[in-house]
Amino acid sequence: MVKVKWLGHSAFAISDGKYRLLVDPFITGNPKATVSAKDVTADFILLTHGHGDHLGDTMDIARRCNSLIIAPNELGHFVENKGLRAHRMHIGGSAKFDFGRVKLTPAFHGSAIIQGDQIIYTGMPCGFVISIGGKNIYHAGDTGLFGDMKLIGERSPLDLALLPIGDNFTMGPEDAAFAVDLLKPKIAMPMHYGTWPPIDASPEVFKSSVKWDADIVILAPGEEITL
Ligand code: NI
Ligand code: MN
Repeated sequence: MVKVKWLGHSAFAISDGKYRLLVDPFITGNPKATVSAKDVTADFILLTHGHGDHLGDTMDIARRCNSLIIAPNELGHFVENKGLRAHRMHIGGSAKFDFGRVKLTPAFHGSAIIQGDQIIYTGMPCGFVISIGGKNIYHAGDTGLFGDMKLIGERSPLDLALLPIGDNFTMGPEDAAFAVDLLKPKIAMPMHYGTWPPIDASPEVFKSSVKWDADIVILAPGEEITL
């Protein structure tokens, strides 16, 4: 049994009962978060890119929990330079971990850390196919719609697809619904919406626009599903 809890925005806690994974743990500063970052633990932290609403509380959690950070190469170097442990990967590559396997998928977006008037390049953004407990979970990261999503679902039959629907910075609800039709997952769940006004998109529009016969699960922050 694999549990997937939405922490709000693009942050998820995934566990097979033994290993605890966090994806993009942006909690502090998220007005919709229902937990405090100090109460979150992780053996592994997966980062899709360096933007603040994804890197989030990674540094504090990783330092406290001695988490291994799985990230695109340049972002991995950034966290290593801060004294944290990283497993650096890149688009198309997969690697085995104690909990299962992770493959990096393309994402069409940017990736930099903005510190005052400095912009620190952190490489290509990515998505992940996370294989854990016999399930394949696709976390798209921040991305626009692209046709090769079809390949992602063909290469790794998906039990769950986590897709941004917020528009403005990523796919909007209708493009995300088309992504479901390409990916053909058993379950699809919207993310990266409702956090702030520029990404106030409707999960109901997303749900009603999907043609593929997937279960569309709309969670509130703090809720979880079991795969
Ligand atoms: Ni972003
Ligand atoms: Mn974002």
